[in-house]
Amino acid sequence: MLKVLVTQRVPAPAIAWLRERVELDDNDSERPLPAGEFHLRARGKDALVTFLTDRIDAALLDAAPSVKVVANVAVGFDNIDLEAAQARKVIITNTPGVLTETTADLAFALLMAAARRLNEAERFVRSGKFEGWGMMMLLGSDIYGKALGLAGLGRIGQAVARRGRGFAMRVLYTDEHRASRPVEEDCGAEFVDKATLLRESDFLSLHVPLMPSTRHYIGAAELAQMKRDAYLINTARGPVVDEAALARALREGTIAGAGLDVFEHEPVVHPDLLACENAVMTPHIASASVATRTRMAMMAAENVVAFANGEEPPNRVV
Ligand code: DGY
Repeated sequence: MLKVLVTQRVPAPAIAWLRERVELDDNDSERPLPAGEFHLRARGKDALVTFLTDRIDAALLDAAPSVKVVANVAVGFDNIDLEAAQARKVIITNTPGVLTETTADLAFALLMAAARRLNEAERFVRSGKFEGWGMMMLLGSDIYGKALGLAGLGRIGQAVARRGRGFAMRVLYTDEHRASRPVEEDCGAEFVDKATLLRESDFLSLHVPLMPSTRHYIGAAELAQMKRDAYLINTARGPVVDEAALARALREGTIAGAGLDVFEHEPVVHPDLLACENAVMTPHIASASVATRTRMAMMAAENVVAFANGEEPPNRVV
């Protein structure tokens, strides 16, 4: 039987399904394994089910040379050194598709929360400051009819675009490659260059993967090109934004606000950002619905079991 390590607690149906099919060592905890323990427990295993908090690099793969498959429970795989995996002929899989709509829901929720200052309003009520309706109380921005800019029109960017259309937004996007005509039509999205996207978006939502070329895709120079009443939404990866520059821009009013689900040095959040009332922040939960997290874990399990059965894992990255 294939020996498999699952490095963090996953929804029960996935672990039960896996337990019937492989020899399982699971970390039944919501805390990632410390690197030392991870390396030790990976030793002798054939496959690993991992998460974005696990670092899969040459050191891990050399500590556990028996590992032939790593099934990452995420669509992103920037926690994995793909070159190190390829050099050792280790198969890497991810979980594309199943989290698209759930992630887009949260991106749009952050957009709406930032625009209508829901975080501030909620704190206002809880702290007993609400003493009656006020004409000028907690004024925010409209969403309906505004320009929604998307950096990246992949699966999640498209799903956010469709939500924007429901709010009669003008949808603009930029990407390395222009999307096909049917995709543009379905999303009602207009292809523009990055400078136009920065200049014309009222809400700029990031949907690029983290790669060397997208690290600090939004920094001080880009923030300075945005409208002063614009909002930045990030559900992609933290390092895509220069967090110190963003905190400065939020403090100085270079932009109006931000909705952030991801952070540059998770789990640490830049202290200046924590002080910004105009930032709505959530702890990397964009895909965190019961159904979606269950589907993600099942998909990773299915990739491992396909390998165990001598089949090609369906969601192979390399
Ligand atoms: C992903 O899938 O890449 C998310 O960030 C984790 O849900």
